[in-house]
Amino acid sequence: MFKPSVARQALRAVNNAATRPAAIRAAARPALTINTRCISSTPSRLQDDSKKGTTDPNGGAYARTDESVVIEYPKDEEMPRSPIVQGRGGMHFKRTLALFSLENKVSVVTGGARGLGLVMGQALVASGSDLAIVDLNKEEAEEQAKKLVAQFQEENPGLEKLPKVTAHYADVSDPESVNAVLAEIIQQHGRIDNLVTSAGFTENFDAISYPYDRMKKLWGVNVDGTYLFATGVAKHLMERKAPGSIVMIGSMSGAIVNVPQPQAPYNAAKAAVRHLAASLAVEWASHNIRVNCISPGYMLTALTRKILDENPELKRKWTSLIPQGKMGTPEDLMGPVTFLLSDASKYVTGADLRVDGGYTLT
Ligand SMILES: NC(=O)c1ccc[n+]([C@@H]2O[C@H](COP(=O)([O-])OP(=O)(O)OC[C@H]3O[C@@H](n4cnc5c(N)ncnc54)[C@H](O)[C@@H]3O)[C@@H](O)[C@H]2O)c1
Repeated sequence: MFKPSVARQALRAVNNAATRPAAIRAAARPALTINTRCISSTPSRLQDDSKKGTTDPNGGAYARTDESVVIEYPKDEEMPRSPIVQGRGGMHFKRTLALFSLENKVSVVTGGARGLGLVMGQALVASGSDLAIVDLNKEEAEEQAKKLVAQFQEENPGLEKLPKVTAHYADVSDPESVNAVLAEIIQQHGRIDNLVTSAGFTENFDAISYPYDRMKKLWGVNVDGTYLFATGVAKHLMERKAPGSIVMIGSMSGAIVNVPQPQAPYNAAKAAVRHLAASLAVEWASHNIRVNCISPGYMLTALTRKILDENPELKRKWTSLIPQGKMGTPEDLMGPVTFLLSDASKYVTGADLRVDGGYTLT
């Protein structure tokens, strides 16, 4: 759990400062202050400090990890349930390019029973695709598959053909499990055209005390799981000589280092996912298989909501670092994932699409 003791003091300082953005800027960028006294013959304070090799004693205070922040990924039975999106409609209420349609496609979403994967799966169904939800928790996947179809039907009354949405068990970090589930999906849907790899998780421990078995599990799910699914689906597409599109869910953590929570293995895993997408995009371009990465910023899923309800300081700190001033929602990924899977992005491959409210820009 998040242990607030030391962090609370640091975050209180941040929160106080957050209401005074000018003060933060001044503290964060002392070296950029233009001191007109520099042109006089008397050495300025800035010059004195730089001679001693120091700047501000508080320098870097808001850009450090805090080892007292410890957050474990909850056990499956303790996971909060994710709601599906309502009131968005499934068919085109407003005119848009036909290129964005996923009609007559079969898409697979790993980690699709909850969180971002669930809502991205819903976006694909709304865009015309059939869907196979893959998750460790098959029961929840089955329940959500039924809800997705019911919601689609409610929002699109009178449609003759409903989307086919199936639920499947797999542990994405286990090659045998991945092969078995791909065979099961192909048997039930006839083929696979698109893949979204959303199964993944993060945990917070400082690097020195990170339990090794948990680190291996984290890399197994986030990196091996992405690799195994991508190669399995690409092999199937190549055998069919069919085009396909793969979207890997990375994270902004693959490009920056989050603060204050320490999470070195997760950051490295997401950097690996991003570069895997680029590498496979090149390797499979001649097979007409596109591979892209979406790197979300802080997104308000049921699980992050629960963590932040218990740690409001963390939420204030995170939000203060996002230029748009708010966290994203799972719905914010509906457009990006549809774009990257559809023909609207036919000439886009190997890209990393950041959906982070501008976090990685500053
Ligand atoms: N929520 C965020 O703020 C955020 C931000 C950036 C990136 N991400 C990434 O987005 C992806 C989805 O995250 P989320 O927030 O929706 O998480 P989540 O925990 O809500 O959902 C993840 C799903 O993956 C499933 N899963 C976990 N391990 C699995 C395994 N071994 N095999 C099969 N399924 C497994 C879980 O059962 C769960 O249904 C992850 O890769 C995560 O790293 C999330």
